[in-house]
Amino acid sequence: MELQPPDPPLSDGIVSLRPWVLDDVPAIAAACNDPEIAQWIHQLPSPYTARDAREYVFSTEAAWGDRLGAFFAVVECASGQVVGSIALHVTDRELANLEVGYWTAARARGRGLTTRALRLLSGWALREVGAERVQLRADVRNGASIRVAEKAGFTCEGTLRASGFNSRENRRVDYAVYSLLPSEVG
Ligand SMILES: CC(C)(COP(=O)(O)OP(=O)(O)OC[C@H]1O[C@@H](n2cnc3c(N)ncnc32)[C@H](O)[C@@H]1OP(=O)(O)O)[C@@H](O)C(=O)NCCC(=O)NCCS
Repeated sequence: MELQPPDPPLSDGIVSLRPWVLDDVPAIAAACNDPEIAQWIHQLPSPYTARDAREYVFSTEAAWGDRLGAFFAVVECASGQVVGSIALHVTDRELANLEVGYWTAARARGRGLTTRALRLLSGWALREVGAERVQLRADVRNGASIRVAEKAGFTCEGTLRASGFNSRENRRVDYAVYSLLPSEVG
C-alpha cells in the first residue's frame, strides 16, 4: 500500500481532504469540545484543549511518515473552512486492511458532508492505495455514524459484542462492524 497524501488533494467539488496543518488547531479544539464527539469517540481528551489539538496535528504528521495511516482535514470547498476529520488506520499491512474513523463539527452536520468524505477516502484507498478492505466500527447506538456507513455503500457484517469500552459509562459496549471491498467501489 502506498500511503502518501494524494496530489492533487481528493475532492468532489463540495468537500476536499488535505493533511492537517498547525493553523487548524483552533478549528479542531472548537469542534472536539462537543458532548456528541465525546460520547462516541471516548479516547479523545475531555475537555479538549488547543494543546491536545497541536499534539494531534503533530501525531498525524509522524503517522503519515511512518505509513501508519492517512489523516485528513475535511474542508468545505465553498467556504474553505475545516468541517471535520477523517482518517484511515492500517490494521494489517500484509493483508492491506484499513479502518476508518471520522467526526464532523456540530455546525456542519446533517448536510451529507461526512458521507461525501467517506466515499472519497474509501474510493481512494481501495482504487489507488491498494487497500483490500476498509472497515468501520461504530457503537450500535450511534445512529448517525451507522447511517453514514450505509449511505457510503458499506456492508454491515454484524455486531462485535462487548468489543469496546466506553470509559464515560464505565462499561463494555457493542460495536456494529461494516466494510467496503475493492469490487464494491462505484
Ligand atoms: C457521525 C457524524 C460524523 C455524521 O456526520 P454528518 O456530517 O451529519 O453525516 P451526514 O450528513 O453525511 O449523514 C448523517 C445521516 O445520519 C442521519 N442521522 C443523524 N442522527 C441520527 C440518529 N440519531 N439516528 C439515525 N440517523 C441519524 C441523518 O439524518 C443523515 O442521514 P440521511 O441523509 O439519510 O438523512 C457526526 O454526527 C459526528 O461527528 N458525530 C460524533 C462523532 C462520531 O460519532 N463519529 C463516528 C464514530 S464511529
